[in-house]
Amino acid sequence: MRTYKIAAIPADGIGREVIEAGSEVLSVLAQRVGDLHFDVTNFDWGSDFYKTSGVMMPENGLEQLKPFDAIYFGAVGAPDVPDHITLWGLRLPICQGFDQYANVRPTKIIPGVTSPLRGVEEGDLDWVIVRENSEGEYSGHGGRAHKGMPEEVGTEVSIFTRVGVTRIMRYAFQLAQSRPRKFLTVVTKSNAQRFGMVMWDEIAAEVAQDFPDVTWDKMLVDAMTVRMVKNPRSLDTIVATNLHADILSDLAGALAGSLGVAPTANIDPERRFPSMFEPIHGSAFDIAGQGIANPVAAFWTASQMLDHLGEPDASTRLMQAVEKVCADGILTPDVGGTATTREVTDAVCKAIRGDNT
Ligand code: IPM
Ligand code: MG
Repeated sequence: MRTYKIAAIPADGIGREVIEAGSEVLSVLAQRVGDLHFDVTNFDWGSDFYKTSGVMMPENGLEQLKPFDAIYFGAVGAPDVPDHITLWGLRLPICQGFDQYANVRPTKIIPGVTSPLRGVEEGDLDWVIVRENSEGEYSGHGGRAHKGMPEEVGTEVSIFTRVGVTRIMRYAFQLAQSRPRKFLTVVTKSNAQRFGMVMWDEIAAEVAQDFPDVTWDKMLVDAMTVRMVKNPRSLDTIVATNLHADILSDLAGALAGSLGVAPTANIDPERRFPSMFEPIHGSAFDIAGQGIANPVAAFWTASQMLDHLGEPDASTRLMQAVEKVCADGILTPDVGGTATTREVTDAVCKAIRGDNT
């Protein structure tokens, strides 16, 4: 029996609803595949925990998570707790403390979901964006002086290190190599930014030498937005800095028809620590508790988790079930349907049980 220990942190708002749905689907999947078991432990950390204890997670939170094989995360953010507290108190300390430097964001058009791009259908847009997740523009390096004075100054310094850029580049080339098209696009802004970004370009060229079977090209981030909209078929795997990929991945989600179905994986490729899998959508307090949250992103990220754990068959089976259910029109209101979270979850469980491939 292959047993995986999963730490579930549903946290806030619809995070709770979709992680519950995802945990249920995982257990049905384990039964169907056989010889497989997910030992899921729930952690009640998040904004409610903060309101009673003053912290988003206990001080030894990372120690508690360390023994797990993976973390299945819902969403953080509550209307009555400032965003910087919820984010810097739970999600970011996990990403940073566990050096999850590769943020992986697959985007494709799910059957039953329509792209806002005219004539672009399923199969025309199938990308994976690799976001540098540990440094760059979001290093938290900067400060403010002369606060409130006319001469006030604020700095926000981007940090690019040779180690940081090389390791994300290597990860991206490897990922591109594992996909059928073996094609990588490296995004920078090395015309206007002459130092860190030029170093990105140089390191990309160096790492490329170790991957002779991967074709790659370079794009400036502004021109990249145009290419994504005008020629989505020309892209496959994409690597970019923390900030650039943050923006491009929102665009990607919108072009694929809904940010609501998009998943993300925060990966420590060296497997020193558990990696973390989450839907991109937030806690969505406006619809929380109504039973209509879209569980597809949570299912899709569960499939990323299965790939990471070395269970590709279970991963494929799960995605096939999700795609079948979406193609059958069993969709929540955010993607134009009328189904509830429960109905979508039941349909996916049924598709997993019934599929005999
Ligand atoms: C994302 C989100 C976060 C990010 C926010 C909540 C800070 O937008 O996962 O892209 O940009 O890292
Ligand atoms: Mg973002």
